[in-house]
Amino acid sequence: MFNPSPRQFKVIKALLFVIALLPFARLIAFTALDRLGANPVEFITRNTGDWTLYFLCITLSVTPLRRFSNWNWLLKLRRMTGLYAFFYATLHFTTFLWFDHFFDVNEASLHHGWIYCFRVIDSVGIDQYQRHDQTAGRQALAVATSADLRRRAARDFAFLVDEGSEAQF
Ligand code: HEM
Repeated sequence: MFNPSPRQFKVIKALLFVIALLPFARLIAFTALDRLGANPVEFITRNTGDWTLYFLCITLSVTPLRRFSNWNWLLKLRRMTGLYAFFYATLHFTTFLWFDHFFDVNEASLHHGWIYCFRVIDSVGIDQYQRHDQTAGRQALAVATSADLRRRAARDFAFLVDEGSEAQF
């Protein structure tokens, strides 16, 4: 069974750190050399998306690999690969939101359904922040509307439950 000495482990860890940075270095180099192709945003989005997925898979495979091989020292590398997955995911998401949609979450949400949650936050948060003069009024409206919606939903739900219980008899 391969069990590296502390010195060997340090070398392995340093190597992994540098190797994991290579895709990022490649992106920087390609940007500097203007080699990102006809659609640079798509290139960066896809590249960082791929590497997020790779590092996610690598991180998730550490535990089964350690079990099969009994290489317990692998566990000490898992945090680094996990952090790299997070690093590439951050780049991926930032590229999407910044270069692809210029931080316009309303527009982004038209393309990606789940971004809709940002849109809701945006509509009651950022939007109001940008329009200081309307803030108080709109906040009051938002609160009033949500209270009104809650009341209406409760009433409708009670009605439905009532209908249901009547239908049973
Ligand atoms: C853990 C989270 C994520 C992973 C593992 C992931 C992975 C990927 C992969 C593998 C691709 C395809 C790359 C290719 O075509 O070679 C991709 C593309 C893409 N992802 Fe993600 N992604 C994640 C989260 C997100 C998020 C949060 C967004 C933004 C809402 C996003 C937006 C996109 C977009 C816009 C593309 C490009 C699609 C295209 O050009 O056809 N991804 N992602």
